[in-house]
Amino acid sequence: MPLTVRALTSEDVERAARVMADAFGMRVSDPAERRRMEERIEHLLRTDPERGFVAVDDGQVVAVAQAMVRERLWCLSLLVADPSARRAGAGRAVFDRALDGLAGADSGLIVSSNDPRALRLYARAGFELRATFQAAGAVNRSRIAHPSAGSPASSGGRSAWCWRPGWS
Ligand SMILES: CC(C)(COP(=O)(O)OP(=O)(O)OC[C@H]1O[C@@H](n2cnc3c(N)ncnc32)[C@H](O)[C@@H]1OP(=O)(O)O)[C@@H](O)C(=O)NCCC(=O)NCCS
Repeated sequence: MPLTVRALTSEDVERAARVMADAFGMRVSDPAERRRMEERIEHLLRTDPERGFVAVDDGQVVAVAQAMVRERLWCLSLLVADPSARRAGAGRAVFDRALDGLAGADSGLIVSSNDPRALRLYARAGFELRATFQAAGAVNRSRIAHPSAGSPASSGGRSAWCWRPGWS
């Protein structure tokens, strides 16, 4: 049966969380942790119900994408494919559907993993790769500027994410 893409529903949440855990290689034996993952998916299902999609193959959900829009900013929140179904186009299928929502926003943002499949999808969709770094240590909150001092963007802060070129 061909791969189909449809809207994510509340009936998919448990399976979507499972695909998410498997995709990121997480062993989720702790029920509280599993529940936390489900809650993350449920939250966006409540706030952005029209921006969640699943790919179904042979009656089984094999990939999930969830995006959100906050004010004029579109963000990809989740993109995962079942490892046993990878490289069969499921990830692209749900990503493309989620990406449709970008048309109504001013800019797009994806905090990407370093999975080359994901990076290829984002690059081909027009996202520009911005380098990030990892830091460790205690945050000295007294040195963080007050929001009234300007947003990171307006004060020339370095974005650690992918921005769609030509969008500001
Ligand atoms: C990223 C992910 C969702 C992609 O889903 P998928 O079903 O495996 O991928 P698809 O079959 O749709 O292929 C996606 C693209 O990657 C390409 N691709 C496949 N293997 C690749 C590789 N090793 N290197 C680079 N690109 C690769 C495919 O050709 C395809 O591009 P194309 O359509 O332009 O030809 C999936 O691999 C995944 O769950 N990864 C782990 C979780 C993750 O990192 N998610 C991204 C979070 S930001």
